[in-house]
Amino acid sequence: EEEDTLRPSTLKEYIGQAQLKENLAVFIQAAKQRNEALDHVLLYGPPGLGKTTLSYILANEMGGHIKTTSGPSIEKSGDLAAILSTLEAGDVLFIDEIHRLPKQVEEVLYPAMEDYCIDIVVGKDSSTTRSIRLDLPPFTLVGATTRAGDLTAPLRDRFGIVSQLEFYSLDELQQIIWRTSRVMDTEIEEEAVLEIALRSRGTPRIANRLFRRVRDFAQVMNDGIIDKAVAAMALDKLKVDHLGLDNVDHKYLKGIIERFKGGPVGLEALASSIGEEAMTLEDVYEPYLLQIGFINRTPRGRIVTDKAYRHLGYDMEEGLFKL
Ligand code: ADE
Repeated sequence: EEEDTLRPSTLKEYIGQAQLKENLAVFIQAAKQRNEALDHVLLYGPPGLGKTTLSYILANEMGGHIKTTSGPSIEKSGDLAAILSTLEAGDVLFIDEIHRLPKQVEEVLYPAMEDYCIDIVVGKDSSTTRSIRLDLPPFTLVGATTRAGDLTAPLRDRFGIVSQLEFYSLDELQQIIWRTSRVMDTEIEEEAVLEIALRSRGTPRIANRLFRRVRDFAQVMNDGIIDKAVAAMALDKLKVDHLGLDNVDHKYLKGIIERFKGGPVGLEALASSIGEEAMTLEDVYEPYLLQIGFINRTPRGRIVTDKAYRHLGYDMEEGLFKL
Protein backbone atom coordinates (compact mmCIF):
# COMPACT_ATOMS: atom_id res chain seq x y z
CA GLU A 1 0.00 0.00 0.00
CA GLU A 2 1.10 3.50 -0.87
CA GLU A 3 0.66 4.73 2.69
CA ASP A 4 3.07 2.12 4.04
CA THR A 5 5.91 3.17 1.80
CA LEU A 6 5.17 6.84 2.32
CA ARG A 7 6.08 6.27 5.92
CA PRO A 8 9.83 5.72 6.30
CA SER A 9 10.63 2.45 8.10
CA THR A 10 14.17 3.22 9.28
CA LEU A 11 15.79 6.08 11.20
CA LYS A 12 18.10 6.64 8.24
CA GLU A 13 15.16 7.33 5.93
CA TYR A 14 13.44 9.60 8.43
CA ILE A 15 13.97 13.24 7.50
CA GLY A 16 14.42 15.98 10.13
CA GLN A 17 14.48 15.94 13.98
CA ALA A 18 18.26 15.50 13.64
CA GLN A 19 19.19 15.67 17.33
CA LEU A 20 16.43 13.28 18.35
CA LYS A 21 17.39 10.81 15.62
CA GLU A 22 21.02 10.90 16.64
CA ASN A 23 20.16 10.22 20.28
CA LEU A 24 17.67 7.46 19.46
CA ALA A 25 20.25 5.71 17.28
CA VAL A 26 22.56 5.52 20.32
CA PHE A 27 19.83 4.29 22.67
CA ILE A 28 18.72 1.66 20.14
CA GLN A 29 22.25 0.37 19.58
CA ALA A 30 22.95 0.26 23.33
CA ALA A 31 19.72 -1.60 24.11
CA LYS A 32 20.37 -4.12 21.33
CA GLN A 33 23.93 -4.75 22.53
CA ARG A 34 22.61 -5.47 26.02
CA ASN A 35 19.81 -7.57 24.57
CA GLU A 36 17.25 -5.46 26.39
CA ALA A 37 14.11 -3.64 25.35
CA LEU A 38 14.54 0.04 24.57
CA ASP A 39 13.56 2.23 27.51
CA HIS A 40 10.07 3.78 27.39
CA VAL A 41 9.79 6.82 25.10
CA LEU A 42 7.53 9.86 25.45
CA LEU A 43 7.15 11.95 22.29
CA TYR A 44 5.39 15.28 22.54
CA GLY A 45 4.65 18.17 20.24
CA PRO A 46 2.08 19.49 17.77
CA PRO A 47 0.12 17.01 15.60
CA GLY A 48 1.52 15.82 12.26
CA LEU A 49 5.23 16.04 13.09
CA GLY A 50 5.85 12.29 12.94
CA LYS A 51 5.29 10.84 16.41
CA THR A 52 3.43 7.82 15.06
CA THR A 53 5.94 7.36 12.25
CA LEU A 54 8.80 7.38 14.74
CA SER A 55 7.14 4.76 16.91
CA TYR A 56 6.86 2.40 13.91
CA ILE A 57 10.53 3.05 13.19
CA LEU A 58 11.51 2.27 16.80
CA ALA A 59 9.67 -1.07 16.64
CA ASN A 60 11.28 -1.89 13.31
CA GLU A 61 14.79 -0.90 14.41
CA MET A 62 14.44 -2.99 17.58
CA GLY A 63 13.24 -5.95 15.52
CA GLY A 64 9.87 -6.09 17.27
CA HIS A 65 6.21 -5.69 16.40
CA ILE A 66 4.07 -2.69 17.18
CA LYS A 67 0.64 -2.60 18.81
CA THR A 68 -1.10 0.75 18.57
CA THR A 69 -3.88 2.22 20.65
CA SER A 70 -4.89 5.56 22.13
CA GLY A 71 -5.62 7.03 25.54
CA PRO A 72 -9.34 7.66 25.03
CA SER A 73 -9.98 4.20 23.52
CA ILE A 74 -8.75 2.37 26.64
CA GLU A 75 -11.70 2.77 29.00
CA LYS A 76 -11.01 0.09 31.61
CA SER A 77 -7.90 -1.46 33.11
CA GLY A 78 -9.01 -4.78 31.57
CA ASP A 79 -8.76 -3.21 28.10
CA LEU A 80 -5.14 -2.32 28.77
CA ALA A 81 -4.39 -5.75 30.30
CA ALA A 82 -5.79 -7.39 27.16
CA ILE A 83 -3.40 -5.44 24.94
CA LEU A 84 -0.41 -5.89 27.25
CA SER A 85 -0.92 -9.66 27.35
CA THR A 86 -0.39 -9.88 23.57
CA LEU A 87 3.10 -8.33 23.69
CA GLU A 88 6.25 -10.27 22.92
CA ALA A 89 9.81 -9.43 23.98
CA GLY A 90 11.08 -6.30 22.25
CA ASP A 91 7.65 -5.16 21.02
CA VAL A 92 6.49 -1.56 21.06
CA LEU A 93 3.17 -0.55 22.56
CA PHE A 94 2.22 2.81 21.05
CA ILE A 95 -0.34 4.85 22.98
CA ASP A 96 -1.43 7.99 21.15
CA GLU A 97 -2.98 10.85 23.15
CA ILE A 98 -1.59 9.24 26.26
CA HIS A 99 -2.64 12.28 28.34
CA ARG A 100 -6.23 11.08 27.93
CA LEU A 101 -5.77 7.70 29.66
CA PRO A 102 -8.29 7.20 32.47
CA LYS A 103 -6.68 7.44 35.91
CA GLN A 104 -7.31 3.81 36.95
CA VAL A 105 -5.89 2.58 33.63
CA GLU A 106 -2.82 4.71 34.20
CA GLU A 107 -2.23 2.93 37.49
CA VAL A 108 -2.05 -0.44 35.72
CA LEU A 109 0.60 1.04 33.49
CA TYR A 110 2.99 1.94 36.33
CA PRO A 111 4.07 -1.61 37.29
CA ALA A 112 3.88 -2.63 33.62
CA MET A 113 6.44 0.03 32.77
CA GLU A 114 8.61 -0.36 35.84
CA ASP A 115 8.64 -4.11 36.49
CA TYR A 116 7.04 -5.61 33.36
CA CYS A 117 4.09 -6.99 35.28
CA ILE A 118 0.44 -6.26 35.96
CA ASP A 119 -1.81 -7.03 38.89
CA ILE A 120 -5.24 -8.15 37.77
CA VAL A 121 -8.04 -8.02 40.31
CA VAL A 122 -10.39 -11.01 40.06
CA GLY A 123 -13.45 -12.14 42.00
CA LYS A 124 -17.04 -10.93 42.24
CA ASP A 125 -17.30 -9.89 45.88
CA SER A 126 -14.96 -8.79 48.65
CA SER A 127 -14.63 -12.29 50.14
CA THR A 128 -13.30 -13.85 46.94
CA THR A 129 -11.60 -10.86 45.41
CA ARG A 130 -7.84 -11.06 45.03
CA SER A 131 -5.18 -9.98 42.64
CA ILE A 132 -3.22 -12.14 40.25
CA ARG A 133 0.18 -11.09 39.05
CA LEU A 134 0.83 -11.43 35.33
CA ASP A 135 4.40 -11.20 34.07
CA LEU A 136 5.00 -9.36 30.84
CA PRO A 137 7.89 -9.67 28.41
CA PRO A 138 10.30 -6.72 28.28
CA PHE A 139 8.62 -4.18 25.99
CA THR A 140 8.84 -0.50 25.10
CA LEU A 141 5.98 1.88 25.73
CA VAL A 142 5.96 4.75 23.28
CA GLY A 143 3.56 7.45 24.41
CA ALA A 144 2.58 10.39 22.23
CA THR A 145 0.91 13.59 23.29
CA THR A 146 0.35 17.13 22.10
CA ARG A 147 0.30 18.29 25.71
CA ALA A 148 3.19 17.02 27.84
CA GLY A 149 1.99 19.33 30.61
CA ASP A 150 -1.24 17.35 30.94
CA LEU A 151 0.56 14.13 31.89
CA THR A 152 0.56 13.28 35.57
CA ALA A 153 4.00 13.46 37.18
CA PRO A 154 4.12 9.73 38.06
CA LEU A 155 3.43 8.76 34.45
CA ARG A 156 5.87 11.27 32.97
CA ASP A 157 8.60 10.17 35.39
CA ARG A 158 8.40 6.58 34.18
CA PHE A 159 9.63 7.42 30.69
CA GLY A 160 13.40 7.11 30.36
CA ILE A 161 13.44 9.02 27.07
CA VAL A 162 11.39 12.21 26.76
CA SER A 163 11.55 14.19 23.53
CA GLN A 164 9.84 17.15 21.95
CA LEU A 165 9.33 17.06 18.20
CA GLU A 166 9.93 20.35 16.43
CA PHE A 167 8.51 22.02 13.35
CA TYR A 168 10.44 21.11 10.19
CA SER A 169 12.65 23.53 8.27
CA LEU A 170 11.84 24.49 4.69
CA ASP A 171 14.72 22.34 3.50
CA GLU A 172 13.46 19.28 5.40
CA LEU A 173 9.93 19.75 4.09
CA GLN A 174 11.29 19.94 0.55
CA GLN A 175 13.16 16.65 1.08
CA ILE A 176 9.95 15.04 2.36
CA ILE A 177 7.96 16.30 -0.64
CA TRP A 178 10.63 15.00 -3.06
CA ARG A 179 10.49 11.64 -1.35
CA THR A 180 6.69 11.56 -1.53
CA SER A 181 6.76 12.45 -5.23
CA ARG A 182 9.13 9.55 -5.88
CA VAL A 183 7.05 7.10 -3.86
CA MET A 184 3.92 8.22 -5.75
CA ASP A 185 5.77 8.23 -9.06
CA THR A 186 4.78 11.83 -9.87
CA GLU A 187 6.76 14.34 -11.90
CA ILE A 188 7.30 17.60 -10.00
CA GLU A 189 9.31 20.77 -10.64
CA GLU A 190 11.75 22.06 -8.05
CA GLU A 191 9.83 25.35 -7.76
CA ALA A 192 6.60 23.44 -7.14
CA VAL A 193 8.26 21.51 -4.32
CA LEU A 194 9.22 24.83 -2.74
CA GLU A 195 5.72 26.23 -3.24
CA ILE A 196 4.17 23.29 -1.36
CA ALA A 197 6.87 23.34 1.35
CA LEU A 198 6.32 27.05 1.99
CA ARG A 199 2.65 26.44 2.71
CA SER A 200 3.01 23.33 4.89
CA ARG A 201 3.33 25.06 8.28
CA GLY A 202 6.47 23.14 9.16
CA THR A 203 4.41 19.92 9.23
CA PRO A 204 5.07 16.78 7.14
CA ARG A 205 1.46 15.57 7.43
CA ILE A 206 0.28 18.85 5.89
CA ALA A 207 3.00 18.73 3.22
CA ASN A 208 1.87 15.26 2.18
CA ARG A 209 -1.80 16.23 2.23
CA LEU A 210 -1.18 19.30 0.09
CA PHE A 211 0.98 17.23 -2.25
CA ARG A 212 -1.91 14.82 -2.91
CA ARG A 213 -4.37 17.61 -3.64
CA VAL A 214 -1.90 19.40 -5.91
CA ARG A 215 -1.30 16.10 -7.70
CA ASP A 216 -5.08 15.83 -8.29
CA PHE A 217 -5.15 19.25 -9.96
CA ALA A 218 -2.05 18.39 -11.99
CA GLN A 219 -3.56 15.10 -13.15
CA VAL A 220 -6.83 16.66 -14.28
CA MET A 221 -5.48 19.92 -15.68
CA ASN A 222 -1.78 19.54 -16.46
CA ASP A 223 -1.09 16.03 -17.84
CA GLY A 224 0.00 14.92 -14.38
CA ILE A 225 2.98 17.25 -14.22
CA ILE A 226 3.28 19.37 -11.09
CA ASP A 227 4.84 22.68 -12.07
CA LYS A 228 4.92 25.89 -10.07
CA ALA A 229 1.83 27.35 -11.75
CA VAL A 230 -0.42 24.34 -11.14
CA ALA A 231 0.86 24.06 -7.55
CA ALA A 232 0.16 27.73 -6.81
CA MET A 233 -3.27 27.53 -8.46
CA ALA A 234 -4.24 24.40 -6.53
CA LEU A 235 -3.05 25.82 -3.20
CA ASP A 236 -5.00 29.03 -3.79
CA LYS A 237 -8.11 26.99 -4.54
CA LEU A 238 -7.54 25.08 -1.29
CA LYS A 239 -7.51 28.47 0.48
CA VAL A 240 -4.05 27.90 1.90
CA ASP A 241 -2.23 31.24 1.95
CA HIS A 242 1.46 31.95 1.35
CA LEU A 243 2.38 31.05 4.92
CA GLY A 244 0.19 27.95 4.93
CA LEU A 245 -2.54 29.55 7.01
CA ASP A 246 -6.03 28.22 6.34
CA ASN A 247 -9.58 29.40 7.04
CA VAL A 248 -9.44 28.61 10.73
CA ASP A 249 -6.15 30.50 11.23
CA HIS A 250 -7.68 33.50 9.45
CA LYS A 251 -10.86 33.29 11.54
CA TYR A 252 -8.72 33.06 14.68
CA LEU A 253 -6.57 36.10 13.88
CA LYS A 254 -9.40 38.24 12.49
CA GLY A 255 -11.54 37.25 15.46
CA ILE A 256 -8.99 38.63 17.92
CA ILE A 257 -8.39 41.75 15.82
CA GLU A 258 -11.97 42.65 15.02
CA ARG A 259 -13.89 41.44 18.04
CA PHE A 260 -11.30 41.86 20.79
CA LYS A 261 -9.25 44.81 19.51
CA GLY A 262 -6.18 42.64 19.00
CA GLY A 263 -6.35 41.11 22.49
CA PRO A 264 -5.56 40.09 25.10
CA VAL A 265 -8.45 37.66 24.99
CA GLY A 266 -8.97 34.39 26.87
CA LEU A 267 -8.91 31.22 24.77
CA GLU A 268 -12.46 30.18 25.73
CA ALA A 269 -13.98 33.56 24.85
CA LEU A 270 -12.21 33.56 21.49
CA ALA A 271 -13.15 29.93 20.74
CA SER A 272 -16.85 30.49 21.33
CA SER A 273 -16.84 33.73 19.38
CA ILE A 274 -15.46 32.00 16.26
CA GLY A 275 -17.24 28.67 16.77
CA GLU A 276 -14.24 26.40 17.27
CA GLU A 277 -13.20 24.08 20.11
CA ALA A 278 -10.74 25.70 22.53
CA MET A 279 -8.69 22.50 22.71
CA THR A 280 -8.40 22.27 18.91
CA LEU A 281 -7.23 25.86 18.72
CA GLU A 282 -4.68 25.25 21.45
CA ASP A 283 -3.31 21.93 20.16
CA VAL A 284 -3.60 22.32 16.40
CA TYR A 285 -3.58 26.01 15.47
CA GLU A 286 -1.75 28.00 18.13
CA PRO A 287 1.62 26.19 18.09
CA TYR A 288 2.37 27.32 14.54
CA LEU A 289 0.98 30.84 15.02
CA LEU A 290 3.27 31.15 18.05
CA GLN A 291 6.20 29.71 16.12
CA ILE A 292 5.90 32.27 13.30
CA GLY A 293 5.38 35.10 15.78
CA PHE A 294 1.78 35.94 14.84
CA ILE A 295 0.43 35.62 18.38
CA ASN A 296 1.74 35.86 21.90
CA ARG A 297 0.36 34.24 25.02
CA THR A 298 0.25 36.55 28.01
CA PRO A 299 -1.14 35.94 31.51
CA ARG A 300 -4.23 37.92 30.45
CA GLY A 301 -4.77 36.00 27.22
CA ARG A 302 -3.80 35.86 23.55
CA ILE A 303 -2.66 38.91 21.60
CA VAL A 304 -2.07 39.34 17.86
CA THR A 305 1.30 40.81 16.82
CA ASP A 306 2.03 43.56 14.27
CA LYS A 307 3.46 40.89 11.98
CA ALA A 308 0.05 39.19 11.77
CA TYR A 309 -1.74 42.50 11.14
CA ARG A 310 0.60 43.15 8.21
CA HIS A 311 0.20 39.62 6.78
CA LEU A 312 -3.58 40.00 6.85
CA GLY A 313 -3.40 43.40 5.15
CA TYR A 314 -4.37 45.64 8.04
CA ASP A 315 -2.98 49.18 8.02
CA MET A 316 -1.05 49.61 11.26
CA GLU A 317 -1.51 53.41 11.28
CA GLU A 318 -5.24 52.98 11.11
CA GLY A 319 -5.21 50.15 13.63
CA LEU A 320 -8.46 48.37 13.02
CA PHE A 321 -9.20 49.52 9.50
CA LYS A 322 -8.47 47.14 6.71
CA LEU A 323 -6.50 48.38 3.70
N1 ADE B 1 6.91 11.39 5.97
C1 ADE B 1 6.32 12.01 7.00
N2 ADE B 1 7.23 12.43 7.88
C2 ADE B 1 8.42 12.09 7.40
C3 ADE B 1 9.74 12.26 7.86
N3 ADE B 1 10.01 12.91 8.99
N4 ADE B 1 10.73 11.76 7.11
C4 ADE B 1 10.44 11.13 5.97
N5 ADE B 1 9.24 10.95 5.48
C5 ADE B 1 8.22 11.42 6.19
